[in-house]
Amino acid sequence: MQRRHYLTFWTGRTQALRAATSSVLPAWNDSLPGYASLLGMHAFALEESGNHFGAEAIGREAVERNPNELWAIHSVAHVLETQGRSAEGVAWLDYPTDAWDDRNPFRRHVWGHAALFNVAQGRYDNVLSLYDNEITSANTPQNIDVQNLASLLARLELRSVDIGDRWDALAEHSETRIGDHDIVFNDIHWSLAMAAGGRAKAASHHAQATADFASTDPLWAAHVFASVGTDLCRSPVAW
Ligand SMILES: [Fe+2]
Repeated sequence: MQRRHYLTFWTGRTQALRAATSSVLPAWNDSLPGYASLLGMHAFALEESGNHFGAEAIGREAVERNPNELWAIHSVAHVLETQGRSAEGVAWLDYPTDAWDDRNPFRRHVWGHAALFNVAQGRYDNVLSLYDNEITSANTPQNIDVQNLASLLARLELRSVDIGDRWDALAEHSETRIGDHDIVFNDIHWSLAMAAGGRAKAASHHAQATADFASTDPLWAAHVFASVGTDLCRSPVAW
């Protein structure tokens, strides 16, 4: 279920996302392992398909059943983000900074949500502290790290917050990813990091590489590049 859930949302198939969790819920209950995880996935599916009321209720139930269910915590955070409830969001993600240290890189995305709530609250010192200590990876950034970090820096710049030289490392890493067209959402963030980090030429080269890929590859990602992705990769350079 989890593999299917991830593959479905990474390919933007919102209705399929909801259909999958809905179809197995009647056959699952709290006597079976993973029930809270399933509820967390269902909450996310409902949120992505616009049922915020249902998503919040199911997500909170999942966290009550298993307070360590990070995907469910994240599902409720998405509802609060979507509805602009940033003060509640800060409180919802008020965990000790070592709370999820034993978890995979997804934990840094959840800290990224905490940072977004702090952005909305104008607490920029908190945002930069989260950026440096919880969201930045100590190792080579994974794709989800670049998504978290680039979108956060762009938001801070739009608010004229002094972000120092934080674009540099992201832009340098992103330049190494030119030619990797796996998921369009990654490429857009690499473009953003390169353009904002002063590597506009590399960003232009990258955008052209996505266009070339879209014209030769028959599969899903190429189709998305052709319809919107390449233009989105060009947009940070133009801006
Ligand atoms: Fe998220």
